[in-house]
Amino acid sequence: MNLLVTGGCGFIGSNLVRMVLAERPGWRVVNLDKLTYAGNPENLADQAANPRYRFVHGDVADGPLVGELLRQERIEAVLHLAAESHVDRSILSAAVFIETNVRGTQVLLEAARETGVGRFVHVSTDEVYGSLGPEGLFTEETPLDPSSPYSASKAGSDLLALAYGRTFGVPVVVTRCSNNYGPYQFPEKLIPLMIANALRDLPLPVYGDGLNVRDWIHVEDHCRGLLAALERGRAGEVYNFGAASERRNLDIVRQVLERLGKPESLIRFVTDRPGHDRRYAIDAAKARRELSWAPAHRFEEALAETVRWYVAHRPWWERILSGASRDYYDRQYGGR
Ligand code: NAD
Ligand code: DAU
Repeated sequence: MNLLVTGGCGFIGSNLVRMVLAERPGWRVVNLDKLTYAGNPENLADQAANPRYRFVHGDVADGPLVGELLRQERIEAVLHLAAESHVDRSILSAAVFIETNVRGTQVLLEAARETGVGRFVHVSTDEVYGSLGPEGLFTEETPLDPSSPYSASKAGSDLLALAYGRTFGVPVVVTRCSNNYGPYQFPEKLIPLMIANALRDLPLPVYGDGLNVRDWIHVEDHCRGLLAALERGRAGEVYNFGAASERRNLDIVRQVLERLGKPESLIRFVTDRPGHDRRYAIDAAKARRELSWAPAHRFEEALAETVRWYVAHRPWWERILSGASRDYYDRQYGGR
Protein backbone atom coordinates (compact mmCIF):
# COMPACT_ATOMS: atom_id res chain seq x y z
CA MET A 1 0.00 0.00 0.00
CA ASN A 2 1.30 3.48 -0.89
CA LEU A 3 -0.02 5.84 1.77
CA LEU A 4 0.10 9.64 1.83
CA VAL A 5 0.04 11.16 5.31
CA THR A 6 -0.31 14.95 5.42
CA GLY A 7 0.94 16.82 8.47
CA GLY A 8 3.15 13.89 9.48
CA CYS A 9 5.67 16.12 11.28
CA GLY A 10 3.07 17.32 13.78
CA PHE A 11 1.92 15.73 17.03
CA ILE A 12 -0.61 13.13 15.85
CA GLY A 13 0.96 12.74 12.41
CA SER A 14 4.39 11.77 13.75
CA ASN A 15 2.89 9.22 16.16
CA LEU A 16 0.82 7.84 13.27
CA VAL A 17 3.69 7.58 10.77
CA ARG A 18 5.82 5.76 13.34
CA MET A 19 2.96 3.36 14.11
CA VAL A 20 2.26 2.61 10.43
CA LEU A 21 5.92 1.93 9.63
CA ALA A 22 6.22 -0.37 12.66
CA GLU A 23 2.93 -2.25 12.29
CA ARG A 24 2.23 -2.38 8.53
CA PRO A 25 5.43 -3.89 7.08
CA GLY A 26 4.19 -3.88 3.48
CA TRP A 27 3.25 -0.19 3.46
CA ARG A 28 5.20 2.76 2.12
CA VAL A 29 4.54 6.18 3.70
CA VAL A 30 4.94 9.55 1.99
CA ASN A 31 4.66 12.44 4.46
CA LEU A 32 3.71 15.82 2.98
CA ASP A 33 4.27 18.60 5.51
CA LYS A 34 4.76 22.35 5.16
CA LEU A 35 6.79 22.55 8.39
CA THR A 36 4.84 25.40 9.94
CA TYR A 37 5.74 26.40 13.49
CA ALA A 38 4.01 23.14 14.58
CA GLY A 39 5.83 20.82 12.19
CA ASN A 40 9.10 19.41 13.47
CA PRO A 41 11.13 16.89 11.40
CA GLU A 42 12.91 15.98 14.64
CA ASN A 43 9.68 14.17 15.64
CA LEU A 44 10.48 11.54 13.00
CA ALA A 45 14.27 11.68 13.05
CA ASP A 46 14.34 7.97 13.98
CA GLN A 47 12.59 7.12 10.67
CA ALA A 48 14.68 9.28 8.33
CA ALA A 49 16.72 6.31 7.05
CA ASN A 50 13.73 3.97 6.71
CA PRO A 51 13.49 2.95 3.02
CA ARG A 52 9.67 2.78 3.29
CA TYR A 53 9.45 6.43 4.37
CA ARG A 54 9.73 9.62 2.31
CA PHE A 55 9.36 13.17 3.58
CA VAL A 56 8.19 15.86 1.14
CA HIS A 57 8.36 19.49 2.22
CA GLY A 58 5.30 21.21 0.77
CA ASP A 59 1.88 22.76 1.18
CA VAL A 60 -1.36 20.78 0.86
CA ALA A 61 -2.87 23.85 -0.80
CA ASP A 62 -0.31 23.66 -3.66
CA GLY A 63 -2.40 21.97 -6.37
CA PRO A 64 0.33 21.17 -8.92
CA LEU A 65 2.63 19.75 -6.22
CA VAL A 66 -0.09 17.60 -4.68
CA GLY A 67 -1.34 16.27 -8.04
CA GLU A 68 2.17 15.39 -9.17
CA LEU A 69 2.96 13.70 -5.83
CA LEU A 70 -0.14 11.51 -5.93
CA ARG A 71 0.63 10.41 -9.48
CA GLN A 72 4.39 9.96 -9.05
CA GLU A 73 4.06 7.96 -5.83
CA ARG A 74 1.00 6.00 -7.04
CA ILE A 75 -0.81 6.96 -3.84
CA GLU A 76 -3.62 4.52 -2.99
CA ALA A 77 -4.83 6.05 0.28
CA VAL A 78 -4.63 9.41 2.04
CA LEU A 79 -4.68 10.13 5.77
CA HIS A 80 -5.19 13.89 5.87
CA LEU A 81 -4.04 15.46 9.13
CA ALA A 82 -2.31 18.66 7.96
CA ALA A 83 -4.04 21.63 9.55
CA GLU A 84 -3.65 24.69 11.67
CA SER A 85 -4.77 23.10 14.92
CA HIS A 86 -4.72 25.59 17.81
CA VAL A 87 -7.95 27.37 18.81
CA ASP A 88 -6.21 30.34 20.49
CA ARG A 89 -4.12 31.04 17.39
CA SER A 90 -7.29 31.00 15.28
CA ILE A 91 -8.71 33.71 17.54
CA LEU A 92 -5.58 35.84 17.12
CA SER A 93 -5.38 35.33 13.36
CA ALA A 94 -7.92 33.26 11.40
CA ALA A 95 -6.90 33.63 7.74
CA VAL A 96 -4.32 30.83 7.60
CA PHE A 97 -6.90 28.45 9.11
CA ILE A 98 -9.17 29.00 6.12
CA GLU A 99 -6.26 28.72 3.69
CA THR A 100 -4.89 25.44 5.04
CA ASN A 101 -7.88 23.74 6.62
CA VAL A 102 -10.53 24.64 4.05
CA ARG A 103 -8.72 25.40 0.79
CA GLY A 104 -5.91 22.91 1.43
CA THR A 105 -8.44 20.14 2.03
CA GLN A 106 -10.32 21.00 -1.16
CA VAL A 107 -7.08 20.94 -3.19
CA LEU A 108 -6.20 17.54 -1.78
CA LEU A 109 -9.70 16.16 -2.40
CA GLU A 110 -9.53 17.36 -5.99
CA ALA A 111 -6.19 15.62 -6.54
CA ALA A 112 -7.60 12.45 -4.93
CA ARG A 113 -10.57 12.61 -7.30
CA GLU A 114 -8.37 13.10 -10.37
CA THR A 115 -6.01 10.26 -9.50
CA GLY A 116 -8.68 7.90 -8.14
CA VAL A 117 -7.27 7.14 -4.69
CA GLY A 118 -8.98 4.18 -3.02
CA ARG A 119 -9.53 5.76 0.39
CA PHE A 120 -9.39 9.31 1.82
CA VAL A 121 -9.55 9.67 5.60
CA HIS A 122 -10.23 13.24 6.63
CA VAL A 123 -9.06 13.71 10.23
CA SER A 124 -11.43 16.06 11.97
CA THR A 125 -12.37 16.96 15.51
CA ASP A 126 -15.22 16.84 18.00
CA GLU A 127 -14.98 20.64 18.19
CA VAL A 128 -17.15 20.86 15.06
CA TYR A 129 -20.13 19.95 17.29
CA GLY A 130 -19.72 23.04 19.50
CA SER A 131 -20.35 22.85 23.22
CA LEU A 132 -22.36 20.44 25.40
CA GLY A 133 -24.25 21.34 28.57
CA PRO A 134 -23.74 19.26 31.71
CA GLU A 135 -25.43 16.19 30.18
CA GLY A 136 -25.22 14.21 26.94
CA LEU A 137 -22.62 13.06 24.44
CA PHE A 138 -21.70 13.99 20.86
CA THR A 139 -22.85 11.38 18.36
CA GLU A 140 -22.17 11.43 14.63
CA GLU A 141 -25.69 12.87 14.21
CA THR A 142 -25.11 15.87 16.51
CA PRO A 143 -25.57 19.04 14.39
CA LEU A 144 -22.40 20.96 13.57
CA ASP A 145 -22.21 24.15 15.63
CA PRO A 146 -18.58 25.31 15.75
CA SER A 147 -17.53 28.15 18.08
CA SER A 148 -14.03 29.21 16.96
CA PRO A 149 -12.49 30.03 13.59
CA TYR A 150 -10.49 26.80 14.01
CA SER A 151 -13.54 24.60 14.53
CA ALA A 152 -15.51 26.42 11.83
CA SER A 153 -12.68 25.77 9.37
CA LYS A 154 -12.65 22.08 10.35
CA ALA A 155 -16.44 21.88 9.96
CA GLY A 156 -16.08 23.44 6.49
CA SER A 157 -13.45 20.90 5.51
CA ASP A 158 -15.55 17.98 6.87
CA LEU A 159 -18.47 19.05 4.72
CA LEU A 160 -16.23 19.42 1.67
CA ALA A 161 -14.89 15.90 2.22
CA LEU A 162 -18.40 14.44 2.52
CA ALA A 163 -19.53 16.45 -0.53
CA TYR A 164 -16.62 15.07 -2.62
CA GLY A 165 -17.86 11.63 -1.61
CA ARG A 166 -21.45 12.25 -2.62
CA THR A 167 -20.81 14.29 -5.77
CA PHE A 168 -17.69 12.69 -7.22
CA GLY A 169 -17.58 9.30 -5.52
CA VAL A 170 -14.29 9.96 -3.71
CA PRO A 171 -14.22 7.23 -1.02
CA VAL A 172 -13.99 9.57 1.98
CA VAL A 173 -14.26 8.70 5.65
CA VAL A 174 -14.45 11.53 8.21
CA THR A 175 -13.21 10.98 11.77
CA ARG A 176 -13.98 13.26 14.71
CA CYS A 177 -11.81 12.74 17.76
CA SER A 178 -11.70 14.33 21.19
CA ASN A 179 -8.67 15.95 22.87
CA ASN A 180 -5.43 14.02 22.38
CA TYR A 181 -2.45 13.89 24.73
CA GLY A 182 0.87 12.04 24.65
CA PRO A 183 4.43 12.40 23.34
CA TYR A 184 5.41 15.07 20.80
CA GLN A 185 2.41 17.37 21.45
CA PHE A 186 3.35 20.97 20.77
CA PRO A 187 3.76 22.81 24.11
CA GLU A 188 1.00 25.33 23.41
CA LYS A 189 -1.80 22.83 24.16
CA LEU A 190 -3.09 22.46 27.73
CA ILE A 191 -1.23 19.39 29.00
CA PRO A 192 2.27 19.97 27.56
CA LEU A 193 2.08 23.71 28.28
CA MET A 194 1.25 23.07 31.93
CA ILE A 195 4.03 20.50 32.25
CA ALA A 196 6.62 22.79 30.61
CA ASN A 197 5.62 25.79 32.74
CA ALA A 198 5.55 23.79 35.97
CA LEU A 199 9.01 22.37 35.27
CA ARG A 200 10.32 25.95 34.91
CA ASP A 201 8.34 27.26 37.94
CA LEU A 202 6.38 29.61 35.65
CA PRO A 203 2.69 30.50 36.20
CA LEU A 204 0.13 27.98 34.86
CA PRO A 205 -2.52 30.05 33.00
CA VAL A 206 -5.97 28.53 33.54
CA TYR A 207 -8.74 30.09 31.47
CA GLY A 208 -11.91 31.28 33.22
CA ASP A 209 -12.93 29.18 36.22
CA GLY A 210 -10.97 26.14 35.02
CA LEU A 211 -14.12 24.01 35.08
CA ASN A 212 -14.41 23.45 31.33
CA VAL A 213 -14.47 19.75 30.52
CA ARG A 214 -12.57 17.93 27.78
CA ASP A 215 -12.76 14.21 26.95
CA TRP A 216 -9.16 12.99 26.77
CA ILE A 217 -7.75 10.23 24.58
CA HIS A 218 -4.17 9.02 24.27
CA VAL A 219 -2.69 9.77 20.85
CA GLU A 220 -1.91 6.07 20.21
CA ASP A 221 -5.59 5.19 20.67
CA HIS A 222 -6.52 7.90 18.17
CA CYS A 223 -3.91 6.64 15.68
CA ARG A 224 -5.26 3.08 15.96
CA GLY A 225 -8.71 4.49 15.29
CA LEU A 226 -7.44 6.25 12.16
CA LEU A 227 -5.94 3.00 10.86
CA ALA A 228 -9.21 1.20 11.62
CA ALA A 229 -11.12 3.91 9.71
CA LEU A 230 -8.72 3.54 6.78
CA GLU A 231 -8.98 -0.25 6.70
CA ARG A 232 -12.54 -0.91 7.82
CA GLY A 233 -14.51 2.35 7.62
CA ARG A 234 -17.40 2.63 5.19
CA ALA A 235 -17.07 5.31 2.50
CA GLY A 236 -19.21 8.38 3.18
CA GLU A 237 -19.42 7.70 6.93
CA VAL A 238 -18.37 9.72 9.96
CA TYR A 239 -16.77 8.04 13.01
CA ASN A 240 -16.31 9.64 16.44
CA PHE A 241 -13.33 8.62 18.60
CA GLY A 242 -13.10 9.21 22.33
CA ALA A 243 -12.00 7.31 25.43
CA ALA A 244 -14.75 8.25 27.91
CA SER A 245 -12.28 10.24 30.02
CA GLU A 246 -14.00 13.51 30.84
CA ARG A 247 -11.88 15.70 33.08
CA ARG A 248 -12.10 19.33 34.23
CA ASN A 249 -9.11 21.45 33.17
CA LEU A 250 -8.34 22.44 36.76
CA ASP A 251 -8.20 18.82 37.86
CA ILE A 252 -5.71 18.03 35.13
CA VAL A 253 -3.54 21.01 36.05
CA ARG A 254 -3.56 19.89 39.70
CA GLN A 255 -2.58 16.34 38.67
CA VAL A 256 0.34 17.67 36.64
CA LEU A 257 1.56 19.74 39.60
CA GLU A 258 1.22 16.79 41.94
CA ARG A 259 3.15 14.48 39.60
CA LEU A 260 5.96 17.03 39.40
CA GLY A 261 5.96 17.85 43.10
CA LYS A 262 5.17 21.53 42.37
CA PRO A 263 2.89 23.80 44.45
CA GLU A 264 -0.67 24.77 43.45
CA SER A 265 0.35 28.41 44.02
CA LEU A 266 1.71 28.29 40.44
CA ILE A 267 -1.90 28.26 39.13
CA ARG A 268 -3.04 31.63 37.68
CA PHE A 269 -6.67 32.11 36.69
CA VAL A 270 -6.58 34.31 33.57
CA THR A 271 -9.18 35.90 31.27
CA ASP A 272 -11.32 33.27 29.59
CA ARG A 273 -10.91 32.21 25.95
CA PRO A 274 -13.57 34.02 23.86
CA GLY A 275 -16.30 31.58 22.77
CA HIS A 276 -14.82 28.94 25.10
CA ASP A 277 -16.74 25.65 24.70
CA ARG A 278 -17.82 24.42 28.12
CA ARG A 279 -17.85 20.68 27.70
CA TYR A 280 -16.97 18.00 25.16
CA ALA A 281 -17.87 14.32 25.55
CA ILE A 282 -17.86 11.66 22.87
CA ASP A 283 -20.10 8.71 22.13
CA ALA A 284 -17.72 6.37 20.28
CA ALA A 285 -20.18 3.44 20.06
CA LYS A 286 -20.24 3.49 16.25
CA ALA A 287 -16.44 3.16 15.97
CA ARG A 288 -16.44 0.39 18.57
CA ARG A 289 -19.21 -1.46 16.73
CA GLU A 290 -18.28 -0.97 13.08
CA LEU A 291 -14.50 -0.67 13.26
CA SER A 292 -13.87 -3.12 16.13
CA TRP A 293 -11.89 -0.34 17.77
CA ALA A 294 -11.47 0.35 21.48
CA PRO A 295 -9.09 2.64 23.38
CA ALA A 296 -6.41 0.86 25.41
CA HIS A 297 -4.96 3.62 27.64
CA ARG A 298 -6.36 4.67 30.99
CA PHE A 299 -6.16 8.41 31.59
CA GLU A 300 -4.41 8.74 34.96
CA GLU A 301 -1.68 6.19 34.15
CA ALA A 302 -1.14 7.53 30.64
CA LEU A 303 -1.01 11.12 31.92
CA ALA A 304 1.69 10.10 34.39
CA GLU A 305 3.61 8.45 31.54
CA THR A 306 3.17 11.61 29.43
CA VAL A 307 4.52 13.78 32.25
CA ARG A 308 7.56 11.49 32.46
CA TRP A 309 8.07 11.80 28.68
CA TYR A 310 8.19 15.60 28.90
CA VAL A 311 10.58 15.44 31.84
CA ALA A 312 12.85 13.12 29.84
CA HIS A 313 12.60 15.18 26.62
CA ARG A 314 13.22 18.64 28.02
CA PRO A 315 15.66 19.65 25.22
CA TRP A 316 12.93 18.82 22.66
CA TRP A 317 10.39 21.28 24.08
CA GLU A 318 12.96 23.85 25.24
CA ARG A 319 14.21 24.19 21.66
CA ILE A 320 10.65 24.75 20.47
CA LEU A 321 9.83 27.29 23.16
CA SER A 322 12.99 29.28 22.62
CA GLY A 323 12.17 29.90 18.94
CA ALA A 324 9.34 31.78 17.20
CA SER A 325 6.83 30.40 19.71
CA ARG A 326 8.18 32.88 22.24
CA ASP A 327 6.42 35.71 20.31
CA TYR A 328 3.13 33.78 20.28
CA TYR A 329 3.36 33.13 24.02
CA ASP A 330 3.88 36.82 24.78
CA ARG A 331 0.94 37.81 22.54
CA GLN A 332 -1.37 35.17 23.99
CA TYR A 333 -0.55 35.47 27.68
CA GLY A 334 1.18 38.85 27.97
CA GLY A 335 -1.96 40.84 28.77
CA ARG A 336 -3.57 38.22 31.00
P1 NAD B 1 -0.21 19.86 14.90
O1 NAD B 1 -0.46 21.33 14.90
O2 NAD B 1 0.65 19.27 15.96
O3 NAD B 1 0.41 19.43 13.49
C1 NAD B 1 -0.06 19.92 12.27
C2 NAD B 1 0.94 19.55 11.18
O4 NAD B 1 0.40 19.98 9.92
C3 NAD B 1 2.30 20.20 11.35
O5 NAD B 1 3.33 19.26 11.10
C4 NAD B 1 2.31 21.29 10.28
O6 NAD B 1 3.60 21.62 9.80
C5 NAD B 1 1.43 20.66 9.21
N1 NAD B 1 0.81 21.64 8.32
C6 NAD B 1 0.15 22.78 8.68
N2 NAD B 1 -0.26 23.44 7.59
C7 NAD B 1 0.13 22.71 6.50
C8 NAD B 1 -0.02 22.86 5.11
N3 NAD B 1 -0.64 23.93 4.58
N4 NAD B 1 0.49 21.91 4.30
C9 NAD B 1 1.14 20.83 4.82
N5 NAD B 1 1.33 20.65 6.13
C10 NAD B 1 0.83 21.57 6.97
O7 NAD B 1 -1.65 19.19 14.89
P2 NAD B 1 -2.17 17.84 15.58
O8 NAD B 1 -2.60 18.14 16.97
O9 NAD B 1 -1.22 16.76 15.32
O10 NAD B 1 -3.51 17.60 14.73
C11 NAD B 1 -3.47 16.90 13.50
C12 NAD B 1 -4.88 16.83 12.92
O11 NAD B 1 -5.75 16.18 13.84
C13 NAD B 1 -5.50 18.20 12.64
O12 NAD B 1 -6.23 18.09 11.43
C14 NAD B 1 -6.44 18.43 13.81
O13 NAD B 1 -7.52 19.24 13.44
C15 NAD B 1 -6.88 17.01 14.11
N6 NAD B 1 -7.26 16.74 15.51
C16 NAD B 1 -6.42 17.07 16.54
C17 NAD B 1 -6.79 16.75 17.84
C18 NAD B 1 -5.90 17.07 19.02
O14 NAD B 1 -6.32 16.94 20.16
N7 NAD B 1 -4.65 17.47 18.81
C19 NAD B 1 -8.01 16.12 18.09
C20 NAD B 1 -8.86 15.81 17.01
C21 NAD B 1 -8.46 16.12 15.73
O1 DAU C 1 -11.29 18.42 20.96
C1 DAU C 1 -10.31 18.26 19.97
C2 DAU C 1 -9.46 19.50 19.89
O2 DAU C 1 -8.67 19.52 21.07
C3 DAU C 1 -8.59 19.55 18.64
O3 DAU C 1 -9.41 19.66 17.51
C4 DAU C 1 -7.64 20.74 18.68
O4 DAU C 1 -6.75 20.70 17.58
C5 DAU C 1 -6.85 20.69 19.98
O5 DAU C 1 -6.04 21.86 20.08
C6 DAU C 1 -7.80 20.62 21.17
O6 DAU C 1 -8.55 21.85 21.32
P1 DAU C 1 -8.82 22.51 22.76
O7 DAU C 1 -9.10 23.94 22.57
O8 DAU C 1 -9.81 21.70 23.53
O9 DAU C 1 -7.37 22.24 23.42
P2 DAU C 1 -6.39 23.17 24.27
O10 DAU C 1 -5.27 22.29 24.72
O11 DAU C 1 -6.05 24.44 23.58
O12 DAU C 1 -7.28 23.53 25.54
C7 DAU C 1 -7.84 22.51 26.37
C8 DAU C 1 -8.63 23.19 27.46
O13 DAU C 1 -7.72 23.89 28.33
C9 DAU C 1 -9.60 24.25 26.96
O14 DAU C 1 -10.78 24.23 27.77
C10 DAU C 1 -8.86 25.57 27.15
C11 DAU C 1 -8.01 25.30 28.37
N1 DAU C 1 -6.71 26.03 28.42
C12 DAU C 1 -5.87 25.92 27.36
C13 DAU C 1 -4.67 26.59 27.33
C14 DAU C 1 -3.74 26.49 26.14
C15 DAU C 1 -6.35 26.76 29.54
O15 DAU C 1 -7.12 26.83 30.52
N2 DAU C 1 -5.15 27.43 29.53
C16 DAU C 1 -4.31 27.39 28.47
O16 DAU C 1 -3.22 28.03 28.52
